[in-house]
Amino acid sequence: MIKTPGCWNCLGSVITLLMLLCCFTQAVGDETIEPAAEYSKGAKQCMTCHKEGKERQAHEIFMTPMGISNAPDSPFAEGAHDCETCHGPSKTHRKKQKDGSRLSPAVTFDAKTPAETQNEVCMACHNDEHTMHWPGSMHEQEEVACASCHKVHAPRDPVLDKLTQQEVCFSCHARIRSETFRNSSHPLRFGEMSCSDCHNPHNGNNDFLLISSTVNDTCYTCHAEKRGPFLWEHAPVTEDCTLCHNPHGSNHAALLKQRPPLLCQQCHSPGGHPTTAFTSEVAENSFQQRFLLARSCVNCHSQVHGSNHPSGVTITR
Ligand code: HEC
Ligand code: HEC
Ligand code: HEC
Ligand code: HEC
Ligand code: HEC
Ligand code: HEC
Ligand code: HEC
Ligand code: HEC
Ligand code: HEC
Ligand code: HEC
Repeated sequence: MIKTPGCWNCLGSVITLLMLLCCFTQAVGDETIEPAAEYSKGAKQCMTCHKEGKERQAHEIFMTPMGISNAPDSPFAEGAHDCETCHGPSKTHRKKQKDGSRLSPAVTFDAKTPAETQNEVCMACHNDEHTMHWPGSMHEQEEVACASCHKVHAPRDPVLDKLTQQEVCFSCHARIRSETFRNSSHPLRFGEMSCSDCHNPHNGNNDFLLISSTVNDTCYTCHAEKRGPFLWEHAPVTEDCTLCHNPHGSNHAALLKQRPPLLCQQCHSPGGHPTTAFTSEVAENSFQQRFLLARSCVNCHSQVHGSNHPSGVTITR
């Protein structure tokens, strides 16, 4: 008789406790739709499902510099969370929900996760000389994700390979692709050059993401002979090579935006001698034809980039 109320008391408190617990989990459920984030016990647990041969395989990361676990700052190093260093705590992803569906990992590198969140994961380790100018760059501002260019689950990241890089860029820059297929272009198609010879896709410091602070300095890295200084400079050359050339390609010779004489006549109106474009109808004699045929104005003004000849003032020699 003495014990009964105690037992009832006991039962009562268990019930209240249960009710409290229910309320508590209910509250948690209401506020933070996602269940508490927990890490798994390492890559082994993920690899039971994501092994070679499966549709969504992941093993190739172990063939990359990042997958080499003895690098002290690798995602697979001692103290890091292996796969979940990047994909975030994903314990709940491993078990199916009651309805048979599967929750995604905390971070996926597709449209389900905002680019900014994705990029924070990468920047946590890659805040070095390669990427320090990323903040503020055109690609960062346009919310391009690191993973839109980089493949980390591939033994050779295509964007780091000269032959395959452009295809990655062309997936967004289709017009540039068509320009590189014109008659005259830099040898991009053959993997002898790549976009990143002129552009640094991470660099927010320079216009057009160029590797150097000006267009000309970018060109001089390979065309040093055009730098001068010349005794007789040609003003537009020292100003900006792209006044006359399209770096990606052109249907005119030598990547020219226009062919002479039209190219030259954009700036030169008739002066000391007529710079009229003689058409085939009016170019009757050989003098006039020199203005029209072959390289036109450049037949005589051959030193179009500048002259070092004492009497090269009109860049003819
Ligand atoms: C029991 C099997 C299983 C385990 C264990 C497992 N996954 Fe998955 N995972 C899947 C399946 C199945 C899919 C495809 C689901 C889908 O497409 O909806 C998937 C998809 C993914 C995706 C792509 C998700 C997306 O939405 O694009 C990622 C990333 C991923 N898993 C990472 C992990 C990580 C990291 C681990 C370890 C913490 C892990 N998985 C453990 C079965 C598993
Ligand atoms: C936990 C730290 C860590 C995180 C997070 C991380 N990386 Fe790395 N990453 C490394 C290490 C370490 C290397 C190897 C560096 C080396 O060998 O010089 C590396 C190398 C690379 C390389 C060069 C690969 C090569 O083949 O040369 C690229 C590209 C790269 N990471 C991109 C990314 C991207 C994209 C992300 C985000 C999805 C990311 N990383 C997240 C640590 C990390
Ligand atoms: C628009 C495409 C693009 C985006 C976006 C991009 N990268 Fe790159 N990344 C490249 C290219 C191209 C290279 C090779 C540069 C070179 O050859 O000089 C590179 C090189 C790297 C390297 C050096 C690899 C090596 O050679 O050792 C790292 C690390 C890297 N990127 C990390 C990142 C991170 C982190 C992000 C996101 C903050 C990112 N990248 C965003 C295109 C991109
Ligand atoms: C350095 C960051 C990083 C690490 C570490 C990492 N992943 Fe990923 N994961 C990514 C990125 C970025 C993608 C997008 C595709 C790509 O870049 O190859 C991705 C995509 C995936 C996908 C989807 C693939 C598909 O076919 O759609 C799966 C599954 C996946 N990862 C599983 C894993 C597993 C399992 C591990 C551990 C063995 C792991 N990831 C480690 C960054 C990472
Ligand atoms: C020889 C150097 C050089 C190479 C190689 C090069 N670019 Fe450019 N790119 C430039 C210069 C200079 C500009 C800025 C002036 C201009 O547009 O004429 C530019 C501008 C751009 C622009 C912005 C302007 C526009 O026309 O839309 C994009 C996008 C671009 N480049 C993408 C690429 C891609 C993708 C590749 C690789 C297929 C590539 N570039 C290869 C030099 C180069
Ligand atoms: C996921 C899409 C995407 C990929 C992949 C991509 N870009 Fe871009 N890029 C953009 C967007 C968006 C802009 C903003 C301007 C625009 O729409 O052209 C841009 C702008 C640029 C510009 C012009 C910057 C300026 O100041 O005008 C250059 C140069 C450029 N990208 C080069 C590259 C190169 C080189 C690659 C390959 C290594 C590349 N991009 C890959 C989306 C992409
Ligand atoms: C990474 C080195 C590199 C850079 C940077 C570079 N070029 Fe070139 N350029 C080349 C190569 C290689 C060729 C092809 C030479 C050949 O075929 O003999 C070339 C050829 C040319 C040609 C002649 C094309 C023809 O059909 O005769 C022009 C014009 C030219 N480049 C202009 C530029 C301009 C303008 C820039 C700066 C925006 C620039 N280049 C930057 C390497 C470069
Ligand atoms: C005023 C217009 C103009 C400007 C500006 C200009 N070029 Fe040219 N470039 C030409 C013409 C015209 C040709 C073709 C010459 C010929 O047919 O002999 C040419 C040819 C070339 C060639 C291939 C033939 C050779 O001489 O090697 C290269 C490389 C070149 N230019 C690089 C450059 C660079 C680099 C710059 C900037 C420093 C530049 N050009 C600025 C007009 C220009
Ligand atoms: C973007 C404008 C521009 C283009 C295009 C251009 N030039 Fe010029 N050129 C100039 C300027 C500016 C000067 C300097 C004029 C001065 O000092 O009075 C100049 C100077 C000259 C001179 C020396 C004139 C003198 O009085 O000393 C000659 C010759 C010349 N250019 C020929 C050409 C030829 C040939 C072409 C086509 C291949 C060409 N230019 C294309 C802007 C241009
Ligand atoms: C048959 C050879 C020849 C051709 C073709 C030629 N020029 Fe000239 N040009 C000269 C000579 C020689 C001079 C120097 C004339 C002088 O000192 O009186 C000159 C001078 C110039 C000058 C400086 C004139 C001044 O007002 O001081 C310019 C600008 C010029 N040429 C532009 C052009 C343009 C543009 C073309 C193409 C439409 C062209 N030239 C075609 C031979 C030629």
